Amino acid sequence: TPVLSLASEAYPLVKTGGLADVVGALPAALGEHGYLLTTLLPGYPALAPMIRGGREVHRWPDLIGAEARLVEASLGEHALLILDAPALFGRDGGPYGDTGGRDWDDNWRRFAALARAGAEIAGGVVPGYRFPLLHAHDWQAGLAPAYVRALDLPVKTVMTVHNIAFQGRFDLSLFPALGLPDWMASIHGVEYYGALGYLKAGLQAADAITTVSPTYAREIRDPTFGMGLEGLIATRAASVSGIVNGIDPAVWSPAADAALPARYTAATLDDRTVNRNAVETTFGLAPADGPIFTVISRLTWQKGMDVLVDLLDDLVASGGRLALLGSGDKSLEAAFLAAATRHPGRIGVRIGYDEALSHLLQGGADAILIPSRFEPCGLTQLYGLAYGCVPVVARTGGLADTVIDANEAALAAGVATGIVHDGVTPDALRHAIRRAIDLYARSDTWRRLQRNGMAADFSWRESGRRYASLYHDLMEPA
Ligand code: ADP
Ligand code: GLC
Repeated sequence: TPVLSLASEAYPLVKTGGLADVVGALPAALGEHGYLLTTLLPGYPALAPMIRGGREVHRWPDLIGAEARLVEASLGEHALLILDAPALFGRDGGPYGDTGGRDWDDNWRRFAALARAGAEIAGGVVPGYRFPLLHAHDWQAGLAPAYVRALDLPVKTVMTVHNIAFQGRFDLSLFPALGLPDWMASIHGVEYYGALGYLKAGLQAADAITTVSPTYAREIRDPTFGMGLEGLIATRAASVSGIVNGIDPAVWSPAADAALPARYTAATLDDRTVNRNAVETTFGLAPADGPIFTVISRLTWQKGMDVLVDLLDDLVASGGRLALLGSGDKSLEAAFLAAATRHPGRIGVRIGYDEALSHLLQGGADAILIPSRFEPCGLTQLYGLAYGCVPVVARTGGLADTVIDANEAALAAGVATGIVHDGVTPDALRHAIRRAIDLYARSDTWRRLQRNGMAADFSWRESGRRYASLYHDLMEPA
């Protein structure tokens, strides 16, 4: 069964976070179950070579006010459709904003065009194409289920929420430009607290809603996590499910990772030392006994980085070191850099985005800190588990679902894989860091944590099966 997957990023073509990893991995995960995914992506400059090498299959003279073409291409086994609309996507900067991080003013138009194109392609309006199932990811694809409804197309729709904090809210006065029927300007359509809500529209119109972990699926029914959409999520509870993300073994396997100076398995963990030394060199850390913590993250409030940055003197005083790779809020970037200046040889900070370096850190650091205030799924803890980089995480969302705390019972039962703390407060985080340092000193116990994590199965096998069964239920209702 052909499925059209609609998203604003996909690894390895364009990535700002975990969404790209998941969108990039789904086609292989679902292919095994007989679902052939084609991903529709915006034609950003990074896709120019694929656009040039692809085949034009359709033209829109006026797609939400812009000229656009549809180009068929592929990346290895991954079938792609690219929405080539230079006026919308042909600009330098990120997928959502300029190089300074300011959102593009016309994001409403850019992602309405993507959604409308997706609906038309799936529904057979574009000659030669027809996808009975459309899978929309996050707010950027949120209008697609609404267009499917509005145009009354024979397409089933799935709306996946990767992060409910990003909602795609725009001025209601833009509504007429979307080409949706008037009734949709209401709470039953795209209207949301006096504005347009793209994610809201998708949640309202989709046949099924998923999010990326069971715990997050429960959390977003609550105002603390639902961020205004909790009411709608609760109303649609019967159609909401949580399916945890998997990891792509072709990209994330310590035994075969080209970014690592030394590749290893659970049986050859001592070889990790080579990578650890490389982390020390790269981050200017002086050799010492305690663990090397890492952070690989957007530096934002969601990720709890404001709490962590204030604990770094304590982390160092307790015998820990830190190698951080990240970018985000300018004030947090500055605070981490200042901590590195205060603690030369103990804290190394790299501001930026570097895929290869993120692999080295997972393969060489001892523990990864993820003190998120909310985390729909989280992928870096899964990479940490697979790489023997023990995760230290807050008990929320997908972090709670994937890491087993090293309390006495779990240690005795031999199932612990990391450290889980309740709440993102200075006390909770300080305590978690100290526990990690203590456990690290018990080298047999630490080895056990590493091996348990590496033995856990976070492949797409089970989650692919769950998406497949959801697709199946939609296509052939009982
Ligand atoms: P989110 O999508 O909320 O940022 P996830 O944990 O799901 O969080 O995914 C983050 C992804 O981005 C992971 O693949 C992680 O390795 C990667 N990443 C985050 N920051 C950086 C960075 N500075 N350099 C390289 N990779 C990064
Ligand atoms: C979002 C979430 C993250 C999740 C990712 C992929 O970026 O913040 O928790 O892992 O999407 O689903």
